[in-house]
Amino acid sequence: MPNASFLFLSQEDVVAAGGLDMGPTIEAVEESLRLLATGDAILPPKSSIRWSDAIDSEEREGRIMAMPAYVGGSFRVAGFKWIPSVPDNPSRGLPRGIGLIGLTDRDTGLPLAVMDGTVVSAMRTGAVTGVAARLLAATGSSVATILGAGVQAKTQLMALEVSLALTEVRIWDVDPDRARAFCEREARQDFSLVPVDDPRDACGDAAVVVAATLAREPYVLPGWLAPGSTFVSISSLDPTVELIASADVLVCDSWEHETEFPSRAFARALAAGVVDRDRVAELGELLVGSRPGRKGPLDRVFVSPVGLAVEDVAAAYRVYGRAAELGLGVRLDLWRSPVWT
Ligand SMILES: NC(=O)c1ccc[n+]([C@@H]2O[C@H](COP(=O)([O-])OP(=O)(O)OC[C@H]3O[C@@H](n4cnc5c(N)ncnc54)[C@H](O)[C@@H]3O)[C@@H](O)[C@H]2O)c1
Repeated sequence: MPNASFLFLSQEDVVAAGGLDMGPTIEAVEESLRLLATGDAILPPKSSIRWSDAIDSEEREGRIMAMPAYVGGSFRVAGFKWIPSVPDNPSRGLPRGIGLIGLTDRDTGLPLAVMDGTVVSAMRTGAVTGVAARLLAATGSSVATILGAGVQAKTQLMALEVSLALTEVRIWDVDPDRARAFCEREARQDFSLVPVDDPRDACGDAAVVVAATLAREPYVLPGWLAPGSTFVSISSLDPTVELIASADVLVCDSWEHETEFPSRAFARALAAGVVDRDRVAELGELLVGSRPGRKGPLDRVFVSPVGLAVEDVAAAYRVYGRAAELGLGVRLDLWRSPVWT
């Protein structure tokens, strides 16, 4: 009879198993998007508990999301992420997003792992930007801007630095002290990290701009971005519909998932009648070559990845495999002998 034990991995175990290694996380996430595009992954809709119907309810009050997926290929594993978002948590010394991930054996349905998903979730979110930057940033992109100086800003920075040859990264936050503290804490040897007080100045001539804030209303206008730039909207409400409409190349991770959340960039642009499915490519379609990406060095590219459970499951499975090899975590029994069979 198969053994019903599974591995419990704390956040410390996840880190010890290479959870903070961005390069391999990008590889795992890229593969999950490729598998999704070729039909070798299953991605049901996300379910969320929302505390109100207001468009900015996530940014004001947070939410809890349940995200299931199956990822085929060399992963061949199912899983889920349960992720509450609590905007006030940083003032309590807690992260805004707190993830719990479960992985399940495809054949028996037995659990393989239950693990901290906080690190995996933030790392895979950075990794998606890494995939987008590799695919879509103009050749020679070396100046980047991150709008927001929270947890995601850290992993966005990690992904940009492994994907681009950076010379300068500008950080803007609605709270200038947070931007300054971020730049001091995250200082790098190879490029400068500069706090900027005005978001328009921060965007300026940047080649890649990433938004990861809790903005409650759109503020990034078309005139802010340089020709040839790539804008990645990790958070929802930063880009104006005019900015989205003015882009030459439009990309998301999943059109279905992106447009089911009214605050997301393409859901707002769809509601305003300025985009439709045909104009927006998915990252997986670019990876398998079924749709073109950037067509020229001066194209303005707009990317809105809502975040997908296939990315979490693939990134978590990589960490689980490494943890099992290294003997990390605690083995727990779901049962020693099942009451019923
Ligand atoms: N698309 C995805 O896959 C994905 C995944 C994870 C997180 N996110 C989103 O990324 C965003 C950032 O998450 P985080 O974990 O870094 O949160 P965080 O709380 O750690 O950081 C948020 C930052 O935004 C700043 N901020 C607050 N209000 C703002 C405002 N009105 N305008 C501009 N900035 C403001 C805060 O000062 C803080 O520095 C959230 O909106 C979250 O939902 C998206």
